[in-house]
Amino acid sequence: MRERMTMLLIRNATLPDGRTGVDLLARDGAFEAVAPNLPQPEGAQVLDAQGWLVSPPFVDAHFHMDATLSYGLPRVNASGTLLEGIALWGELKPQLTQEAIVERALRYCDWAVAKGLLAIRSHVDVCDERLLAVEALLHVKRQVAPYLDLQLVAFPQDGVLRSPGALDNLIRALDLGVDVVGGIPHFERTMGEGARSVRLLCELAAERGLRVDMHCDETDDPLSRHVETLAFETQRLGLQGRVTGSHLTSMHSMDNYYVSKLIPLMAEARLSVVANPLINITLQGRHDSYPRRRGMTRVPELMAAGLTVAFGHDCVMDPWYGLGSGDMLEVAAMGLHVGQLTSTTQMRGCFDAVTTNAARVVGLERYGLEPGCRADCVLLQARSPVEAIRLRAQRLAVVRAGRVIAHAPPATAQLALAGRPPQVDFTSGH
Ligand code: FE2
Repeated sequence: MRERMTMLLIRNATLPDGRTGVDLLARDGAFEAVAPNLPQPEGAQVLDAQGWLVSPPFVDAHFHMDATLSYGLPRVNASGTLLEGIALWGELKPQLTQEAIVERALRYCDWAVAKGLLAIRSHVDVCDERLLAVEALLHVKRQVAPYLDLQLVAFPQDGVLRSPGALDNLIRALDLGVDVVGGIPHFERTMGEGARSVRLLCELAAERGLRVDMHCDETDDPLSRHVETLAFETQRLGLQGRVTGSHLTSMHSMDNYYVSKLIPLMAEARLSVVANPLINITLQGRHDSYPRRRGMTRVPELMAAGLTVAFGHDCVMDPWYGLGSGDMLEVAAMGLHVGQLTSTTQMRGCFDAVTTNAARVVGLERYGLEPGCRADCVLLQARSPVEAIRLRAQRLAVVRAGRVIAHAPPATAQLALAGRPPQVDFTSGH
């Protein structure tokens, strides 16, 4: 007998575009109808959204799952810098086992699901003869596939040219099924070598029909201009719309005149941009006294120029960052503050940076709340995307392919005050 697929009817949702009183019907894993007052099909499970916000799930466009939850192993980053983090990861690498990477990654994916984060692009370090992390994360990718889309980037942490054997290892990782070509031009020995690494990695991606996502110019050095080469190679090789520049923190410190030429070139190449606010604000500016730079790339200007800009979490409890919980609303809130993105449109843009924009960066198909999309969504205890950011809203329910895979009670506090309401939930009301 054919297994009966479940039907889920979500009643009375508010959508990110502001529509209220909307029902969403999921059948056979996909949204079938999204409209007010849908009839209830026989046998459908009903989820009453009570007017709360239903959003497509969160997407993290930039993460390091091979390092996550390793905080303190073998020691803590004392200086707090990117470079000590890389050195620390180098100390930890020989001690890693596949079992430990898999266990930590799966634990993180549990957190992600509970936070409504159902798609992650993770870089995986390929500077290791054994490709231990690659094999571990390919295993994790298969294991979590029913509930989380994990996309992997072949990331030569120690420099594809600077680290002996790194290019061969990167190609082996792609052969094993890693999806995207990564790079780290600012960590190569010279600016020239950095530019050469961008060229050869983009050529490799073009040959194989793959996307590119490079750690690019993750430095406070205003003369780190590899993003210029990345945009040029993207156009030369016809990779428009398939290439992402991650971090781009040097843009924070660049000369305004140069940036006025650079951003149009990036737009022409249809580069995507991923800023990692929590990490940029903590790792950058470490060589400054005061004033101390924020380090995040020029998000408002890049958004205004029409580039697709996403926010990534980058790190959770690893050699670079001791905090985090997989909460993309925390990421959005930090991006909003660091970038001073306080207009209504900009605040809304910060929500898009961890949902629709991130989905575009990763190239997710069938993402959204329209009929035909996979029935993935998150029910947030908020009335709007901006309120969701303000409250880091509780994830009341997380739905994957029409099935509730996580849920949590509303976040409320009980009051014992004469003449005042018995409880508060911090939302602004209808
Ligand atoms: Fe990163």
